This record gives sequence, structure tokens and C-alpha cells, in this order.
Amino acid sequence: MNDAIATAGVFALSDDITVTRMGYGAMQLAGPHVFGPPADRDAAVAVLRAVVDAGITHVDTSDFYGPHVTNQIIREALHPYPDDLHIVTKVGARRDAEGNWPSALSRDELRSAVHDNLTNLGLDALDVVNLRVGGFGEATPGSLAEPFTHLVEMQREGLIRHLGVSNVNAEQVAEARSIAPIVCVQNNYNVAHRVDDALVDELAADGIGFVPYFPLGGFSPLQSDRLDAVAARLQASAMSVALAWLLARSPNILLIPGTSSRDHLRENIAAAALELPADAMAELDAIG
Ligand SMILES: NC(=O)c1ccc[n+]([C@@H]2O[C@H](COP(=O)([O-])OP(=O)(O)OC[C@H]3O[C@@H](n4cnc5c(N)ncnc54)[C@H](OP(=O)(O)O)[C@@H]3O)[C@@H](O)[C@H]2O)c1
Repeated sequence: MNDAIATAGVFALSDDITVTRMGYGAMQLAGPHVFGPPADRDAAVAVLRAVVDAGITHVDTSDFYGPHVTNQIIREALHPYPDDLHIVTKVGARRDAEGNWPSALSRDELRSAVHDNLTNLGLDALDVVNLRVGGFGEATPGSLAEPFTHLVEMQREGLIRHLGVSNVNAEQVAEARSIAPIVCVQNNYNVAHRVDDALVDELAADGIGFVPYFPLGGFSPLQSDRLDAVAARLQASAMSVALAWLLARSPNILLIPGTSSRDHLRENIAAAALELPADAMAELDAIG
């Protein structure tokens, strides 16, 4: 395993699934706006192989990336999968002809999404499936009991090993946990967007993973004078410092930065070994 990935360590999502805290988010591998095929499919395959060669054991995806395209590229690049590789997927949305992301939370839509993931990834069962409840970037308040129960049904059928939730607020996390155990929560969170600070700590106390998406700001790269100042002092990039801050923030935080570039992948992996002195940490904490 790459030294930086080893430095960041691992996290046990469950008794049977332990992942490297430095993971990889595959959303950027589809075409522009996460719609259609990428311009350079071979480059996408090469990024995924570099992810696994570096020793990363956590890849985040969804069958609605592309749609289908990202999972098909993952299968082409990595199947048969190494025993220690865990692919975490999500259901609860679909793509329309214009590339929008409408919710798809009915029993039929969730069942077909799980089967599409199984087919396109070439798996008999999915390690972790997140129920994506809200829209892009935020939670939509309201009960998730009905769609979550449909996933629990598929877990009982053996199609899903473990469950998680995404784009949810603290009440929805509590509601899901009252129905069935979850192993992770995936929400929009980074050094400059800290709505979930309390939730991160609450989940850490219970040994549940918190997986921030948009760790680098997503479609609008992180911009902060303080982040830039700390990065300049440490002679590191702002993106590396943002990732190092997340790793230092809480031991249950798992990184899934997304990139279609092998250079950015290398830079993001190196960030896992970046140590932030206490004064830098305090300065970054104050951004949120
Ligand atoms: N649950 C949800 O609703 C949800 C929503 C969004 C995303 N996700 C998941 O979370 C993962 C991470 O989110 P994300 O990919 O949207 O956003 P992100 O990781 O915050 O940022 C990705 C963007 O940053 C660029 N980038 C990556 N590394 C960089 C570096 N070292 N220097 C400069 N730019 C860099 C990428 O471009 P290049 O390709 O050029 O590197 C891409 O434009 C996704 O891949 C997906 O798996 C989940």
C-alpha cells in the first residue's frame, strides 16, 4: 500500500468491511455534467487502475453517474475485483433526458436501481448501498421510512450487505437507525461547508462512518483566503490541505475525492500524509 494511504489508516464500516480512509469518488469519470461517456475512456480506466494499485480499497459510485457509464467503466477497469476492494453505491435518483437528477424513491425504482448496479458492476451483492434522499448538496426534510424499508427488504434478500443514507439531516439519520443499522452517512461537507459538524461527532461516537462528498467543493472548487494562506505556509496545495483537514477533523471521516486526472489522484493521495500543525488546524477550523 502507498505510504500516504497507510498513514491515513483504515476504518471498519462493519465486522466484514474495513476500508482505507483515503478512498476515491468515481463520479468525475462520466462525461461532462456526469452525463454520457467521458471523452477519453482509456484515461478513465487508467485512473481506476491507479486507484487500486495505490492501495485504495473504497470506491464510491452510483449507477446514475452517466447513467450506467461510470459503473460500466469500473467493471471494465477492475473486474474481477480484488477481495479487499469495497464499492459503495447509491440509489434514490435517476437521470432524465436533459441530464437532471429527479428523485426515484418508489419500490420499483429502488429495486431496478439495485439490479442495475449489480448488473453494471458485475456483482451478486452490493457491499454498501446509500439511500440518497435529498437533492444535490442538501437534505430535504421529511420521512425516509418508506424508501429505506424497501432497501431493508433487499438487504434481507441478500442483494445488499450494508445500508447507508445520503443527503440527510440528523432527524432522518435517527429515523433510518430506528429501522435498521446503517454503516455510513454521505453528505455535503468540507472545510468551508460545516452544517454537519454536530452530526459528524454524533456518528463518530457510535462508530458510524461519515463520508463527505464535495470534499474539494465539488462543481465549484473550494475558495478561501484562509485555506490559501495555510496552504502557502505549509507549501502544499489548497486542495491537499482541505483533504488533510477532513482526515484530522474526525477518525470516522472517510475521503472520496473525485478526479478524472491521474495527476490530481496522486496529489490527493499524497494529502493523506500531510500533517497539519495545531495552529493550522485552528485557523482552518475557524473557516466554517
Ligand atoms: N451522495 C451524493 O449526493 C453525492 C453528490 C456528489 C458527489 N458524490 C460522490 O462524492 C465524490 C466526491 O465529490 P465530487 O467528485 O463531486 O467533488 P470533489 O471531490 O469535491 O471535487 C471534484 C472536482 O475537483 C477536481 N479535483 C480533484 N482533485 C483535484 C486536485 N488535486 N486539484 C485540483 N482539482 C482537483 C476535479 O477535477 P479533475 O477531474 O480535473 O481532477 C473535480 O472537478 C464523487 O466523486 C461522488 O462519488 C456524492
